[in-house]
Amino acid sequence: MTSTLASALEPKHEGRATFRALDPERDRAEIERLLARAVPHDYLLQMLDRWLGSPGTLGGFDGQELVAIEKLEDLEQGEGWLGAIRVAPERRREGWAHRLTAWSLEVAKRMGMQVVRLIIEDENTASRALSKGLGFRSVAALSHSVGIAPATVPSSGKVARLARDEELPDPRELEGLRRTNGFLLTTVPHPMRFVRATPLRLKDAARAGHLRVIGDDVREGLALLGPRAPWRFREGQTLRLLTPLGASALEIFETVSEGVREEGCELEGFLPDDPPFLPPLRSAGWKSGEHATWGEHVQLYEVAL
Ligand SMILES: CC(C)(COP(=O)(O)OP(=O)(O)OC[C@H]1O[C@@H](n2cnc3c(N)ncnc32)[C@H](O)[C@@H]1OP(=O)(O)O)[C@@H](O)C(=O)NCCC(=O)NCCS
Repeated sequence: MTSTLASALEPKHEGRATFRALDPERDRAEIERLLARAVPHDYLLQMLDRWLGSPGTLGGFDGQELVAIEKLEDLEQGEGWLGAIRVAPERRREGWAHRLTAWSLEVAKRMGMQVVRLIIEDENTASRALSKGLGFRSVAALSHSVGIAPATVPSSGKVARLARDEELPDPRELEGLRRTNGFLLTTVPHPMRFVRATPLRLKDAARAGHLRVIGDDVREGLALLGPRAPWRFREGQTLRLLTPLGASALEIFETVSEGVREEGCELEGFLPDDPPFLPPLRSAGWKSGEHATWGEHVQLYEVAL
């Protein structure tokens, strides 16, 4: 059932605990305090205005004290995304993350979402236990990569031109997507989220000007090249999100590198943790990366509502 955001976000009370949407202005000081304590050097603090500017920041309170936080995003087409789960260090293992997430999933269902996904670093035992207890299951294993092919790579002479609506292939024909179990690291509506690759998702990316074709065969050389991830921005360096969708991931990586090298760019993305796919890219300069919060290996989890 779909309902308005306001009614879906009806607060929930359980004894001393309250679960409610956070107000970016009124709750800001509490949010900042919690983030600063929950994760060392949390990237969210570097982009707090932007992060709080989008809806879906949800909190768990013990009386007046904010002890847990997370973000539920509507990625449209029935898909939701859960992120930024943080519990105050001295209040862990009391069930706060479980209860807040259970409420978020109720909200998601009321908003009409059919599935909610999140990614968890392999090392994060607590988060894995949390998601398992709520019915999430792993649907793809991925590894985080950052880098750019060196300038010494001979030019292929091809260009990464924008894809046109009418030439978009059926996502099921794309080798790169078969390797990720049909999931796409998208740029639309938000960068760095995974969605099911549907014809409509490819169309959205093409319309946003993020879908590039390399060479003649669109099924071979298709890549999603999005805006840089804001939290990865370092002095003198920008990053762009790259998802090789076609079969020739190496060619895509090298051609796109050629195109963006002048901008001082690196490319960032999550690749399938698939042995035949990774080594050529690694030797071409796409290095195993570490996300600001996660390690190199992550899994994509989902729960159907
Ligand atoms: C991950 C985190 C949110 C869990 O919060 P929490 O309030 O302590 O979790 P809960 O008490 O609700 O526990 C939920 C489940 O995880 C298990 N769990 C929690 N911490 C655990 C740990 N350190 N080791 C093993 N299991 C753990 C609990 O046993 C519980 O399992 P159950 O469903 O079988 O009862 C918290 O540890 C945290 O803020 N970590 C830092 C930020 C972070 O890593 N965020 C996640 C990014 S994906």
